[in-house]
Amino acid sequence: MLVDFRNEPLTNFQDRTFHRAMKEALGDVRRGFGREYPMRIDGRDRLSGHWIRSADPSRPKEVVGQVAAATREDAMDAVEGAWSAFEGWARVPAEARARCLFKAAAIMRRRKFHLAALMCFEVGKTWSEADADVAEAIDFLEFYGREMIRLARPHPLTRIQGEDNEVIYEPLGVGVVIPPWNFPLAILTGMTVSSVVAGNAVVLKPASASPVIAAEFAKIMEEAGIPPGVIQFLPGSGGEIGDVLVSHPQVRFVTFTGSRDVGVHIYELAAKVQPGQKWLKRVIAEMGGKDAIIVDSDADLDDAAAGIVTSAFGFAGQKCSACSRVIALEDVYEPILERVKALTERLKVAPADLEEASYGPVVDRAAYEKVLQYIEIGQTEGQLVTGGGPAEGDGYFIKPTIFRDVPPEARIAQEEIFGPVLAFFKAKDFDEALRIANGTQYGLTGGVYSRNRAHLEQARREFEVGNLYFNRKITGALVGAHPFGGFHMSGTDSKAGGQDYLLLLTQAKVVSERF
Ligand code: SER
Repeated sequence: MLVDFRNEPLTNFQDRTFHRAMKEALGDVRRGFGREYPMRIDGRDRLSGHWIRSADPSRPKEVVGQVAAATREDAMDAVEGAWSAFEGWARVPAEARARCLFKAAAIMRRRKFHLAALMCFEVGKTWSEADADVAEAIDFLEFYGREMIRLARPHPLTRIQGEDNEVIYEPLGVGVVIPPWNFPLAILTGMTVSSVVAGNAVVLKPASASPVIAAEFAKIMEEAGIPPGVIQFLPGSGGEIGDVLVSHPQVRFVTFTGSRDVGVHIYELAAKVQPGQKWLKRVIAEMGGKDAIIVDSDADLDDAAAGIVTSAFGFAGQKCSACSRVIALEDVYEPILERVKALTERLKVAPADLEEASYGPVVDRAAYEKVLQYIEIGQTEGQLVTGGGPAEGDGYFIKPTIFRDVPPEARIAQEEIFGPVLAFFKAKDFDEALRIANGTQYGLTGGVYSRNRAHLEQARREFEVGNLYFNRKITGALVGAHPFGGFHMSGTDSKAGGQDYLLLLTQAKVVSERF
């Protein structure tokens, strides 16, 4: 009997057993550095002669692993093979498909420290961020498994005399999954297994900054009993295989999480009906954010400062949910800024695998250069409060950076930086605070710290975001509790980890039989 869904608990690293386990896992992962990982097509290894080299952003000379880079031909084979696998997989009962997810969750639980350690090295997550990433991956497996069982049960329809009516949620076919590198296990797992448990087969193109953890995931899913070809593991560059996959006439749906520009490109490309295509492709796109926290006049400022710093600088601000704007009411502007500055300056910047790190590097050279460029732009648009450039170390370390008195139309107020840069804005009243908050093209997460009931109710109605948080941090949405997805240019508001999600990956068939 299946127990109800519960979120996976986070690890307390103060416990000596867990502390030791994490240290050992980091050692094991480090000893395995430099290994080669093939792509997996139809359950068989394949090499291409080209490699994606995945380096540790804390020490970029160290290569975590090399993963085979697919060519266009590999992409074509992967789509064709996925359709062959789909024929059988779609007929497997929903409960049996779900059981593969529950088994994968058990395997991940057993390898929790290994998977977390790998993410510390591959993308620069601190221990607690990496642990939360594994926990979220497990949550997605447990949650979507249960959701599919629920969806496969009979659903009530209005009764008609002499007629039997039934609604069935059938899989769509073959989809392409393009996950991000910032939750390289959690979001990749959620996007892939939701598609698969619904009976679809997928071509999984992992992000090029995190292909090794993706290869581990593909292995776990095979061990858990997902048949060959149902998940085609196809690492490769977006330029080489991305468009080929998205525009392929045999692809039925695309699920993407990443930047606004790539998301818009995918949306447009998928909308074009190709010769021989016999459906309109579905696109699930979760894109960027320019997320704001409003601090009201009567807010608990210590609480607000802690929530702002966690939301802005957790994983060096590389979350679509991260707080990049603080909008403070005039009378609390100086005291909240002071508190946020003090807490920010206490963050310990260090290689992410070291337990003392509360803040690691950004993911790669391109990110490093882009964020530093925005910091330069910020110097001309606002006034620097703290940070403002590279931090010490050989890796891609950037000091957590705060600007004040930023005009709401400034570039650092409008464009997603995806790094540790926070801008402060002053509002004369709550209406103006909401206007500034809503004044970007995005609408993903938002927060309000306030004790004013009327203001909270007003924000509930008027703050245009998919995930709105009151008196708490705005990152770390929990599967089941906080279905996640944004408005406007943040994406299709698909609500990952929520009860409506599998509907996006199925098509409803209604069968009516007159007796
Ligand atoms: N779901 C993540 C969060 O809430 C972001 O992708 O932080």
